Amino acid sequence: MEKKIKKIKEEIIFKLNSVSNLKGIEKIKVEYLGRKGLVTLLLRRLGELSIQERPKIGQLLNQTKREIEELLEIKTIEIEKLEKNKKLKEESIDVTLPGKKSDRGSIHPINLVLKKTEEIFLNIGFKIEEGPEVELDYYNFEALNIPKDHPARDAQDSFYLNREILLRTHTSPVEIRVMEKQPPPVRIIATGKCYRRDAADSTHSPMFHQIEGLAVDRDITFGDLKGVLTVFVHRMFGEDRKVRFRPGYFPFTEPSAEVDVSCLLCHGKGCRACGYSGWLEIMGAGMTDPAVFNMVGYDPEKYSGFAFGMGVERIAMLKYGINDIRLFFENDLRFLKQF
Ligand code: DAH
Repeated sequence: MEKKIKKIKEEIIFKLNSVSNLKGIEKIKVEYLGRKGLVTLLLRRLGELSIQERPKIGQLLNQTKREIEELLEIKTIEIEKLEKNKKLKEESIDVTLPGKKSDRGSIHPINLVLKKTEEIFLNIGFKIEEGPEVELDYYNFEALNIPKDHPARDAQDSFYLNREILLRTHTSPVEIRVMEKQPPPVRIIATGKCYRRDAADSTHSPMFHQIEGLAVDRDITFGDLKGVLTVFVHRMFGEDRKVRFRPGYFPFTEPSAEVDVSCLLCHGKGCRACGYSGWLEIMGAGMTDPAVFNMVGYDPEKYSGFAFGMGVERIAMLKYGINDIRLFFENDLRFLKQF
């Protein structure tokens, strides 16, 4: 019996040596100390021994059981430590390695043009104003000298929300809102989104951006308009650009003009981009119509003013050589990353 007990202990020590995980230890524990384990069975059979043998063997068995428990405990701690170290090693970070680069965004070309425009006009004494995109028919048309039956309304197929409210078709209503709010002098620009019922193609989008400008004071002349817009064109497109004013028509300005810039591709010689004219149209402008001043309570005898309005997408297309307006709104990263 004593020999058997000794053998069991040796067996366990041998097995423990080759155990490498906690599962293995659990197996040994069940095999020897579990309900049907070898040591447990021996303890249960103590009663079969003679009275003389029983205390000695009993003591020996109990002591062996404690020793086995201790051995298992030591091995468990050892394996736990090993596993923890292994995990730490696997999860360790080499702080000397170069970091992962995070993607960098870029500013949308429409916003680049808007920012540049604001900078140019702020530098020459203009203030920035804004108005609502959901606008009253009165501000969008009526107060700009475009009554209900006016043909100019046809050219601007509008999104109406009801009979009186629409999505603004241009930024010109901001002119009225500013003049209603303050007496002259006025020097403002207003930028923002506009909406027209146009089917999208390479030059049309139902939503687009405009930049509006207005200056009102005593003795403002067409010469002031030409000077300001020439400064704008030079700073936006380059000092070597030429500016041309052609007669035009807008209900809210008189006289009115279409403003052209010399072609950025052929420098005025004539090419496909400018229809072999050497010029590209960039905006409408003119001297504020006295009828508009009457609408806002400014005295047309005392004050004069100029106004202009342009499409931001068109400016951006010319500036960056973009040939399809839809590119601005598709959010294709291959396009956006170039700015
Ligand atoms: N509002 C006009 C349009 O959307 C552009 C425009 C032309 C604005 C002449 C002006 C102006 O202020 O004077 O077509």
